[in-house]
Amino acid sequence: MFRVNENYQKLPGSYLFSTIGKKVAAYQNANPEKQIIRLGIGDVTQPIAPVIVEAMHKAVDEMGNAATFHGYAPDLGYEFLRNAIAKNDYAARGCDISADEIFVSDGAKSDSGNIQEIFAPDNKIAVCDPVYPVYVDSNVMAGRTGIYDAQTGMWSNVIYMPCTKENNFVPEFPKKVPDMIYLCLPNNPTGTTITKAQLQEWVDYANKNGSVIIYDAAYEAYITEDDVAHSIYECEGAKTCAIELKSFSKNAGFTGVRLGYTVVPKDLKCGDVSLHGMWARRHGTKFNGAPYIQQRAGEAVYTEAGKAQLREQIDYYMRNAKAIKEGLADAGFEVFGGVNAPYIWLKTPDQMTSWEFFDYLLEKANVVGTPGSGFGPSGEGYFRLTAFGSYENTVAALERIRHL
Ligand SMILES: Cc1ncc(COP(=O)(O)O)c(C=O)c1O
Repeated sequence: MFRVNENYQKLPGSYLFSTIGKKVAAYQNANPEKQIIRLGIGDVTQPIAPVIVEAMHKAVDEMGNAATFHGYAPDLGYEFLRNAIAKNDYAARGCDISADEIFVSDGAKSDSGNIQEIFAPDNKIAVCDPVYPVYVDSNVMAGRTGIYDAQTGMWSNVIYMPCTKENNFVPEFPKKVPDMIYLCLPNNPTGTTITKAQLQEWVDYANKNGSVIIYDAAYEAYITEDDVAHSIYECEGAKTCAIELKSFSKNAGFTGVRLGYTVVPKDLKCGDVSLHGMWARRHGTKFNGAPYIQQRAGEAVYTEAGKAQLREQIDYYMRNAKAIKEGLADAGFEVFGGVNAPYIWLKTPDQMTSWEFFDYLLEKANVVGTPGSGFGPSGEGYFRLTAFGSYENTVAALERIRHL
């Protein structure tokens, strides 16, 4: 008789957004006349920029011609894309990352879930709390997290680094040194971040203690403040302790196109073992390359026209972020984030739990957000709204919230 991976049985409940989807669908079924505004899931709404659409059309035409057809892509990704990434995302910021340290993928979710595979099963992980749930869940599936305590919402083998208004959402160094440290900055869900000087302290800590940092920079394009790093490799010594994950989903609207990349520097080693070599082996065995059409789309992101068109999109979402932040503050809410990220994090009013506030907002304002507790125990009592809706919907949602 076969047996299943029992670690999956340990996962509490369903994925956060499935639960939200079910609740919203049930409400809509019972109230078909209500116009629900969704500011919950972090999915973009603006269409793909014209210069990128053009690049994709051209690539599709190439695929339809025997002379320019492309089959399997190279494991690491096409050089034209890796060179564009190395030049624009790294060299332009003074980071010494070469094209062959970049692994192109189908998105940061897959990479953030898969990267733990190259580490020992008994490594101790540390996560910011609250944070993007994939880091903990993928480690649960791998059997690295111990026992779940439903009372506290915590796993026995996970080190939680609370990020709350009390510490200004800056993770503190844990008392017990972790082997793997997940940092998501700017942070999903809080929309807050740390300064480059504070990030440098994390790099120094990791190098001193022999920890590896898995740095998720999915929201880097939304940074507006000068003293915030766009890449962890802006910090000295990061190449010996950090892996960086990047996505094209939020800077270029590729949530449905699918493209991302991971940087594993060649200097990152565990004794004599190169993590770059391990990830290359894993990529070669389990991944057959991101599609040519998507990679040409990714290349267009780095053209001058691409940069200008995407700047407009990001400005559009950040105008929403500002409207939400100011609107909620005017309505008496305590709000955070929204300056270097498209997320606004608010304290729930009147001691409501995150899920109580979710139900309240859905029923009274017909607005969908995301309960903070879904991102970790320290998210309880908070709530996330995203700036990814249309401006009209964002303003309409705020109007409703103001009149609650
Ligand atoms: C922090 C973070 N990393 C990764 C992802 C997923 O990115 P991708 O669409 O490239 O898989 C998300 C998506 O919401 C995210 O919030």
